[in-house]
Amino acid sequence: MSESWTLLKLLRWMTDYFSEKGIDNPRLDAELLLAYTLNLDRVGLYLNYDRPLLAVELDTIRPLVKRRAQREPLQYLLGSTEFWSLDFTVTPAVLIPRSDTEILVEEALSKAGPEGQLLDVGTGSGAIVISLASELSNWQMTGLDISTQALAVAQQNVETHQLEEQVQLLQGNLAELPLHQYDLIVSNPPYISQGEWDELMPEVRCFEPQLALLAENDGMICYQQLAAQAPSRLNPNGWLLVEIGYKQAEAVKTLFSAAGLKDVFVREDYSGHPRVVGGCLS
Ligand SMILES: C[S@@+](CC[C@H](N)C(=O)[O-])C[C@H]1O[C@@H](n2cnc3c(N)ncnc32)[C@H](O)[C@@H]1O
Repeated sequence: MSESWTLLKLLRWMTDYFSEKGIDNPRLDAELLLAYTLNLDRVGLYLNYDRPLLAVELDTIRPLVKRRAQREPLQYLLGSTEFWSLDFTVTPAVLIPRSDTEILVEEALSKAGPEGQLLDVGTGSGAIVISLASELSNWQMTGLDISTQALAVAQQNVETHQLEEQVQLLQGNLAELPLHQYDLIVSNPPYISQGEWDELMPEVRCFEPQLALLAENDGMICYQQLAAQAPSRLNPNGWLLVEIGYKQAEAVKTLFSAAGLKDVFVREDYSGHPRVVGGCLS
């Protein structure tokens, strides 16, 4: 990159380079990275296409371009992502929240009464529990995770959204849920089987925490542990709602029914894939 680069010229170069490296949305990623580095929004970029870039700006963007070309997720480079129209800090200690997980938030909202107690198992960045707390001001909520590094990120997000009074974070293993009764237990647990691991995109396989993704028993262990404990941790009419991988709907439904949960259902995401399974304690 020489010093005669204009913003548009660099944008085109980055787009071609990212495309060569197999990145899915090369132009969008180039725009977002450039906008972030120059402290502009995307409209600001379009209005400054002819602006020559300073040497210091090129020095700042160069390592970021290199990292993205090596398939590091854009969200880790930017340090944040959007979920449920809220801004979340993300670091490599947490899974990057996915828009498909908003289906779980929608289902939880549809089951929630005016007040209650909720547990989010495997809270990661806190995306689910914070989104729900932002909608359900009379609920008390707990986000549980085994990873103290993930919980530090979740704590930062709780503070950013000023939900300290409503959301408590707890370190623990989902194999032994807190001895407490909840009206809603929600979880997006690890559910990738060893066999599926090698198929993952480099962004996921090489950069997101394996602890957040990989699950024993062919991806089923967390569902088995949650189903086994749900009857003793849910209040009457309380719901267990989990995100699933697209091949897991039947197995998780069977597990929930065998655990004694009623009204077991599957909800599809907006691409038509089974995404959430839920069951109720009668
Ligand atoms: C798929 S991520 C979900 C993160 C976040 N809830 C979301 O939807 O974006 C799963 C989370 O479960 C946590 N986790 C993995 N094994 C666990 C266990 N045995 N007990 C509690 N949490 C666990 C991971 O640290 C990770 O944060």
